[in-house]
Amino acid sequence: MANVLVIGKGGREHALVWKLKQSENVDRVYCIPGSDGIAEIANCADYNVNDFNGIAEFCKEMNIDLVVPGPEDPLCEGIVDYLTERGIKTSGPSKAAARLEGSKAFAKEFMRKHNIPTADFEVFMDPDKAKDYVEAHGAPIVIKADGLAAGKGSKVCMTLDEAINAVDSILVKKEFKDAGNKIVIEDYLEGEEASILALTDGNTIRTLAPAGDYKPAFETKHDRTRWLQSGGDRKYEDRKIGPNTGSLGAYAPTPIVTPELMEKVYNRILNPTIKGMAEEGTLFVGCLYAGLMIKDGEPSVLEDNVRFGDPETQPILSLLESDLFLLLNACVEGNLERHQIKNREGAACCVVMASGSYPGSNYEKGKVISGLEEVKRLSDVYVFHAGTKKNNGRIETDGGRVLGVNGNGDNIWQAINTVYPAVSLIHWENEYHRTDIAEKALS
Ligand code: AMP
Ligand code: GLY
Repeated sequence: MANVLVIGKGGREHALVWKLKQSENVDRVYCIPGSDGIAEIANCADYNVNDFNGIAEFCKEMNIDLVVPGPEDPLCEGIVDYLTERGIKTSGPSKAAARLEGSKAFAKEFMRKHNIPTADFEVFMDPDKAKDYVEAHGAPIVIKADGLAAGKGSKVCMTLDEAINAVDSILVKKEFKDAGNKIVIEDYLEGEEASILALTDGNTIRTLAPAGDYKPAFETKHDRTRWLQSGGDRKYEDRKIGPNTGSLGAYAPTPIVTPELMEKVYNRILNPTIKGMAEEGTLFVGCLYAGLMIKDGEPSVLEDNVRFGDPETQPILSLLESDLFLLLNACVEGNLERHQIKNREGAACCVVMASGSYPGSNYEKGKVISGLEEVKRLSDVYVFHAGTKKNNGRIETDGGRVLGVNGNGDNIWQAINTVYPAVSLIHWENEYHRTDIAEKALS
């Protein structure tokens, strides 16, 4: 029986802990730093996720057999290299392989070199040259900070003015600090988005249930008004979709990804990525998450992530029947070819409940959350904590994304009709969520 350590503290990590605990091969599950929500089902220890030395010592002391890092930050900083060098098995990409997410310029150049479909692009460090390119190209156009920006570094610009402002904001005003020393400017793509998460040992690739993700903040005028009233950024007032968030919901499986499309994604995207990384001497191990745009049945990569998606991981793992520990362990041991992924029939839908003005940075914390106990009594509903804290025995908000409420059903319609009644039982002041998660899968 193994002891497992999950690194991180969000809804994704809560779901990873929850799923790993179901394994017959797992004895104890730990989480660093975890949260008061995760502490209900795992032992949490208060280390910084970038304190590799502290984490390594903790692993030795607790006889950890497998470490599963959740967030991109420690992966891009090299946690896998650090722990592996000290004999601690860690399921994730090395620092060099994590550049697929850590540098959008690296990822785009890699895709260009390996003929992986993605929007045409150029990389800039000089704001004047970037603006010349934008003016020559026209809008819509997409401006992306090269480095990590908590999912907020991509600006989809519908007008030339917005695009010029985006260049200034990232390269000159340093909105994302050094993560914006370089930008990628790429063509705007239309279509339907899908998130494909695949486990890999660097050779064999096994895909999880394809998911749909909801990054834009709003779906209706009503939400815009509410968001503005709670202190949101006025510059998005007239925009239909609002700013990008870390994502406000997800569902799986998405019918947009048919078996034929999945085959194309495998042959044109996943396999060339994993083979290309191996050829370049940077074996990719762990979870590769390809964010795709699909138009007329043809997939293009919007971005690569080198980790489980949040919140996609929540509905995906609630559908997974296979033993997650055995799969992740096989990724590290290099024998994933012996394992298959089995999902249960049906569908799952996750609605993220967020603080009032999220994704603005001035959201309030410390609002008392009610209704969690009632929701615990519902069947097929799972609540994962993304940003909560216990205070005097009460659960309070402590982040932008606060809860991931998940509902499962025999189909998407049932999953939606399981999750939203649960969401309506949970309250706090200025709570915000989208009301249309998974709806497009019905049409
Ligand atoms: P990224 O950070 O690259 O995943 O981008 C975040 C979101 O911005 C994506 O999920 C898309 O909704 C949007 N986006 C990114 N790149 C493009 C593009 N080239 N064309 C249209 N939308 C994009
Ligand atoms: N769902 C978006 C992300 O995990 O990056």
